[in-house]
Amino acid sequence: MSIVYLNGSFMPIEEACVSVTDRGFLFGDGVYEVIPAYGGRLFRLPHHLQRLQDSLDGIHLSNPLTEPEWEQLLESLLERNRDRAGSHNDQSVYLQVTRGTAAKRDHNFPTEIHHTVYAGSNPIADPDPALARDGVAAVTLDDIRWAWCNIKAITLLPNVLLRQQAGERGAAEAILIRDGHAIEASSSNIFIVHDGVIITPPKSHIMLPGITRDLVLELAKQHGVAHREDNISEDELRDADEVWITSSTREIVPVTRLDDRKVGDGAPGPVWETMLAHYRQYKEAVRRGDAG
Ligand code: PDD
Repeated sequence: MSIVYLNGSFMPIEEACVSVTDRGFLFGDGVYEVIPAYGGRLFRLPHHLQRLQDSLDGIHLSNPLTEPEWEQLLESLLERNRDRAGSHNDQSVYLQVTRGTAAKRDHNFPTEIHHTVYAGSNPIADPDPALARDGVAAVTLDDIRWAWCNIKAITLLPNVLLRQQAGERGAAEAILIRDGHAIEASSSNIFIVHDGVIITPPKSHIMLPGITRDLVLELAKQHGVAHREDNISEDELRDADEVWITSSTREIVPVTRLDDRKVGDGAPGPVWETMLAHYRQYKEAVRRGDAG
């Protein structure tokens, strides 16, 4: 049975209930994080907690816990779900903080805040070997989201609608186009490879600063793989030799079909293969306790 944390206590997921007056439920007034853990060790925890703090600052909500309290909570959660996680003990943590409940539905913030704090974890399945063979399909769609996409807000209706549209067209992701540029995807960041150089858009308020994205850039730098942060026009996206999407849950996934046309030669590319190997090596170091 899955154990979750809610407002100070651990409990079976079936017993976890949130009030219908919660502002997360009424307004989507909250933020979240998704953090993988390999071999029971949280992956890039300080980076995720910093982004959580930035998201909370972005919605003017105080952080209900200190960093050590978050760490203790999440480690305890992983331990309590250890028996569901298989021999590798790889789990994905979802945590959410909302502006809590208020006596009356009111767009204004309540004067007194009682945060709702929730965290749960699920086993991570081994990566599908078909991904390395075939990659995935993606479609381009207009970025219909708001202008503060750097905040990891639980208000995800545009992302949900875009992803559903992609799914209905047989694609795994929707790559979002704003003002003629590819920004990111509905739940992942994007990279292209052009003439051997890895390119990803620079951070800005219209995209989520992905933890996986940052690690890919860090690993490229460390291993001397040519890379740069630059805007990607729609034409550059379509002409790319390789296109990838990255996220904590998907790692680095090659996109081999874009809007029903082949990307490059239609197979996962060599630069992707190199960077995935570096990424997996880093993951194993985290599992051994040699990296964070
Ligand atoms: N999504 N961009 C968007 C819009 C995202 O929702 C995500 C992650 C990312 C990648 O960020 P990271 O590398 O830190 O996971 C980029 C998570 C996994 C989700 O919503 O489930």
